[in-house]
Amino acid sequence: MSRFHTRRTTFRQLEIFKTVAEIGSVTQAAELLHLTQPSVSAQLSKLEDALGVNLFEQIGRKLYLTDAGQRVLRESRVLFDSLDRLEGELAELHGLTKGILRLSAVTTAKYLVPGLLGPFYQAHPDVALDFQIANREQVIRRLEDNLDDFCVFSHPPEHLDLVKIPLAENRLVLIAHANHPAAGQAEVEWSSLEHEPFLTREPGSGTRIAIESHFARQGWTLRPRMTIASNEAIKESVAAGLGISILSRHTLFHMAQGNLAEINVRGLPITNTWYLVHWRTKALSPVARAFIEFVRARPPEAT
Ligand code: PGA
Repeated sequence: MSRFHTRRTTFRQLEIFKTVAEIGSVTQAAELLHLTQPSVSAQLSKLEDALGVNLFEQIGRKLYLTDAGQRVLRESRVLFDSLDRLEGELAELHGLTKGILRLSAVTTAKYLVPGLLGPFYQAHPDVALDFQIANREQVIRRLEDNLDDFCVFSHPPEHLDLVKIPLAENRLVLIAHANHPAAGQAEVEWSSLEHEPFLTREPGSGTRIAIESHFARQGWTLRPRMTIASNEAIKESVAAGLGISILSRHTLFHMAQGNLAEINVRGLPITNTWYLVHWRTKALSPVARAFIEFVRARPPEAT
């Protein structure tokens, strides 16, 4: 009989292992699981003994997964995923939509997603939520690791076999300090702005990719002066007079103390679409199916 089928390996040990592996720290995992650090270490040793492999190696102060550890992590995720799904299906037999909705969104979409979740949660108050926010590159990695039910992007990766459900438009507009001479003008040309300090998001950001490809299509020159890995910090920097930038209009609901102006530039805004995506082959949980039905049934642009 396989070692996993003996009484020597428990779901709890696998859960502890998975938490340590994902956080990368025994101390933090112990806090999260409300256990002491020695009991987390003891459970990990028992699991290693039962499986006959080392799961981690400690190099300096950092913990790394061994090759065997990576495989155990991958299969533990599959296992806990199906247990979650089973829990949801059993709840559904009783007419309940229970369980957990796992969603990750690119940083800019954090302005959009809560408006989508609010009405869903009013209709399904027993559903728990795990909502992660990261830049596009990190969300793609989460998608590849199958960590979520859904991801929200305006540039879903082309190389993966995904179902893409359109959510809303994403318009990227040019912003400048409110005292900028172009503020309030009917339309200006990019050439009149191209020598101004341009603030841009970090590599890996969907906003940055959208700007770079739009500029390439328009034949415009982009000379980024500063890279800032946050929409909010870019907004504050533009309001403080550091330069101009292009950001999603969703981020501008709270204009930094009225110090920002949106500038009308010929050839802008850059218009993209927000998509809710999931793997085409994903076995969706009842909660995830309820969420898709809710998203499809709502009026377009309701977010
Ligand atoms: P970002 O992504 O928040 O990583 O810039 C935004 C997008 O995909 O449009």
